[in-house]
Amino acid sequence: MRRLLPGTGPVDPADLPEIYAYPPSPGRPVVRVNFVSSLDGAVSVDGVSGGLGSAADKAVFGTLRRLADVILVGAGTARAEGYRGARKPTIGTDAPPPIAVVTGSASLDPGTGLFTDTSTPTLVLTTTDAPADRRAALREAGGEVVELPDLTPASLLGELERRGLRRVLCEGGPGLHGDLVRAGAVDELCLTLAPLVVAGDAGRIASGPAAAPPEGFALASALEEDGTLLLRYSRTP
Ligand SMILES: NC(=O)c1ccc[n+]([C@@H]2O[C@H](COP(=O)([O-])OP(=O)(O)OC[C@H]3O[C@@H](n4cnc5c(N)ncnc54)[C@H](OP(=O)(O)O)[C@@H]3O)[C@@H](O)[C@H]2O)c1
Repeated sequence: MRRLLPGTGPVDPADLPEIYAYPPSPGRPVVRVNFVSSLDGAVSVDGVSGGLGSAADKAVFGTLRRLADVILVGAGTARAEGYRGARKPTIGTDAPPPIAVVTGSASLDPGTGLFTDTSTPTLVLTTTDAPADRRAALREAGGEVVELPDLTPASLLGELERRGLRRVLCEGGPGLHGDLVRAGAVDELCLTLAPLVVAGDAGRIASGPAAAPPEGFALASALEEDGTLLLRYSRTP
């Protein structure tokens, strides 16, 4: 892996935590979003992102997890990608970050790795509009089910802040990312550009109504390995 910006030169995987360190806390949760996309903007191949990955993407993906207090993810992604608990502890702690799943329906299988294969209880962020029996089943399975007044970015991030989870890593998907973009809640976008063109009808990294006006981001760092670009953008003030 090599660094293209800022500066140039080889990058050792051990350098990644420093390269991707969160900015100093502005007194509220900092939201970092991570996606991998093909050159033509697809976020999945056959419905999952795995076909776009590479060793470099995996190294950055793992590093971002180890820097986060919490991994925020939409239920669509958790279902499609078969999520389970994070494995490695957050750097500086002895526990992996919890996965926090956003779901209006609470339609998650209590038998999945989110509940059966995790050392840190999964947070289920939902509302009382979700069927009570599903919420009860997820609690029974070991999930920490949190009923919020609504699932707007302000409510979601307010709950994470209340729990002291300020370094937020959102792993998508496009639906949740779109909500965060429209709320102006994305501080950083880590985008891996895979050297692949896939065509088809896979979605983009953000979906739903357009943000108006579009959000501006500045390129903060760029790494490269075997044609894969690992880009980190920060929202411009
Ligand atoms: N390339 C990548 O890096 C990457 C990353 C992530 C995902 N993906 C791909 O993206 C696809 C999934 O896309 P998606 O748009 O379905 O993903 P998503 O944003 O993870 O899921 C959308 C679902 O999450 C819940 N949700 C999210 N935000 C919500 C909110 N503010 N309020 C209420 N519910 C909310 C809803 O679930 P309920 O239906 O339970 O209410 C909604 O149907 C998969 O193919 C996955 O592989 C790719």
